[in-house]
Amino acid sequence: MFITFEGGEGAGKSTQIRMLAATLRASGHEVVVTREPGGSPGAEAIRHVVLSGAAEPFGPEMEAVLFAAARADHIDRTIRPGLARGAVVLSDRFVDSSRVYQGVTGGLDRPFMETLERATVEDMMPDLTLILDIDPEEGMRRANARRGASKADRFEKEGLSLHRRRRKAFLEIAKAEPKRCKVIDASRPAEKIAAEIAKAVETVTERKGLRTAEKAG
Ligand code: TYD
Repeated sequence: MFITFEGGEGAGKSTQIRMLAATLRASGHEVVVTREPGGSPGAEAIRHVVLSGAAEPFGPEMEAVLFAAARADHIDRTIRPGLARGAVVLSDRFVDSSRVYQGVTGGLDRPFMETLERATVEDMMPDLTLILDIDPEEGMRRANARRGASKADRFEKEGLSLHRRRRKAFLEIAKAEPKRCKVIDASRPAEKIAAEIAKAVETVTERKGLRTAEKAG
């Protein structure tokens, strides 16, 4: 099972990933926790290039290509092997982040983004995407508090209106793909969110189990 976490800055993705990983491990699953950009040595190298802003002067197309290249390596080295040995793979961000950050707020056109997506993701779409939804103002407040004195990255330093457009774009993806995506109200206490996420995961596990049983029978 492949599960991705998406949403704006400060939505609490990493806390929820940690909590879900602990729950799944307690019930005997192998869990691979990974992130994008990154999650494999090649992709982590690209992460440094994009998040430092070193690729920004080359324009949004080139940044999108770099994110896609990182994703291809991440899939080959980490996601596909993890799934092949039966692990649950949890990724902090995946292709929806590209659709939103590069596609929508980066202003790149759909055919370009779709071509990139086809070339990298192929059959590796998540079984479940949890979209942690939070008011961007609150999200920024949390992200700033967490970051403390360290510098904001290439995307964190952008303005509130951009973060609002991203929130809307994530919600639109969820609307367009209701089977894969679940919107989670991330303004609530972490335990409440974790419980809702665990339930969503269970539903998908049952659905997948049923499908496998049908195929076998
Ligand atoms: P990260 O430090 O992982 O932050 P976060 O806690 O917000 O996930 O930074 C990743 C940044 O890269 C984040 O601002 C979103 C951006 N990003 C893209 O623009 N496109 C992508 O395809 C991905 C995966 C991330």
